[in-house]
Amino acid sequence: MTTRRNFLLNGVASVSTLAVPGIAHALTPKFEEFVARPAAIQLAPPSYAKTEIWGFGGGMPGPELRITQGERVQRSFLNELPQASSVHWHGIRIDNAMDGVAGLTQAAVEPGASFDYDFVVPDAGTYWYHAHARSFEQVARGLYGALIVEEAEVPDVDREEVLILDDWLLDPKTAQIDPDFNSAHSRSHAGRMGNFIATNGRYDLSIDVRQNERLRLRLINAANARIFAIGVAGMEGWTVALDGMPLVKPQRLGEALVLGPGQRADIIVDVTAETGETAHLVRNDSNDGVSQVAFPVTGRATAARRDTPAALPRNAKMNVAGLENAVPVRLNIEGGAMGRMRSAVLKGERKSFRELVSENEFWAFNGTVGMPDTPLADLGLGQTVRLEINNDTSFPHAMHLHGMHFREIGEDGTLGPLRDTITMFRGETRTVAFVADNPGDWLFHCHMLSHAASGMMTWMRVT
Ligand code: C2O
Ligand code: CU
Repeated sequence: MTTRRNFLLNGVASVSTLAVPGIAHALTPKFEEFVARPAAIQLAPPSYAKTEIWGFGGGMPGPELRITQGERVQRSFLNELPQASSVHWHGIRIDNAMDGVAGLTQAAVEPGASFDYDFVVPDAGTYWYHAHARSFEQVARGLYGALIVEEAEVPDVDREEVLILDDWLLDPKTAQIDPDFNSAHSRSHAGRMGNFIATNGRYDLSIDVRQNERLRLRLINAANARIFAIGVAGMEGWTVALDGMPLVKPQRLGEALVLGPGQRADIIVDVTAETGETAHLVRNDSNDGVSQVAFPVTGRATAARRDTPAALPRNAKMNVAGLENAVPVRLNIEGGAMGRMRSAVLKGERKSFRELVSENEFWAFNGTVGMPDTPLADLGLGQTVRLEINNDTSFPHAMHLHGMHFREIGEDGTLGPLRDTITMFRGETRTVAFVADNPGDWLFHCHMLSHAASGMMTWMRVT
């Protein structure tokens, strides 16, 4: 039945599908607008030209979204990029329809079109958002930002800083982003590695602090492939959360905190360096410690150091019960350079590794290259899953599950912290467990984004 109201709505819909910018803008977005568009920023030192990036809100990182646990995020994503795109809210135990995976949970948003994201954030913690269409290109161009969900009761720190770690692959002469996103080397080896490392888009990020000040640092690894091994100097600290989820007990920062692509860590640090000295967030590159962020000490905060910080308040649903009756699922990762994969199935056809290489495809999950038609696991709502992952390749992989967090089962049977991404080194077999308590089709892939693009993608269905 065509009512006057329907007619009007249909009229509006057909106008919005026209790629006429003037008309698209005349429409009022349902929620606050969240635009992705090209921009130029001073990424390299000032003697270089500005770098053309793609950014949310035209910035890099995109605007920080900060809300309180249990609240709603409502944004009308408007695509002003020259490519179709979508927004994924990494680590949020979200309603499936809002997960932002182009081709699985929604259609990609075409240039000039928009999509309304509307979801509740059930857990406090450090999350991030990023483009999820051609991610290997769009994330490398800068399409990401922090999504911070505050605890209702704020922990006892003097201040906090969100630090997004990334590496950029720039032309050393022009400071422009290397456009060879499909490079066979990146796809078949460790992924697209940058030659220019930055924090929040700054290679020289420096934050003034005072001695004895207590800071909460929210670290987010937004790099396409780089694994950051993080330490501190002139500070003493504890890890209090991983992938958004609080640890039962703060853990003293040791040699190195390993953050694979997509992973986050909340650390609480006390500045121990004296006035006039500089403390550092340190990155361990091979054998060297390099400053990632400098913290010049400009004075003294309080006379005394404080005690070990308390644990952050728990989120709901952090337990993984029912392991005795868990459904076993196995994932074998094969392929890549220096691997031993002989053949695999690509789009229903068995191909030799050499044939795959000629198609710029390199990796397989359980013998299949790329998104399979059938899910890796078809799970009943509430079922507990025991997922064994075997990295039968010569490279590390950061395996990320959408929609649900998991806990690693240790050798002694104890469960590790709740996480959404697991960084696995070559040859490792690790087992994780989770409760399939979120209905929908959930992507499970390598967060080395060139690997995901060249085979390392699958999905699980929860009904
Ligand atoms: Cu952070 Cu499938 O993504
Ligand atoms: Cu990988």
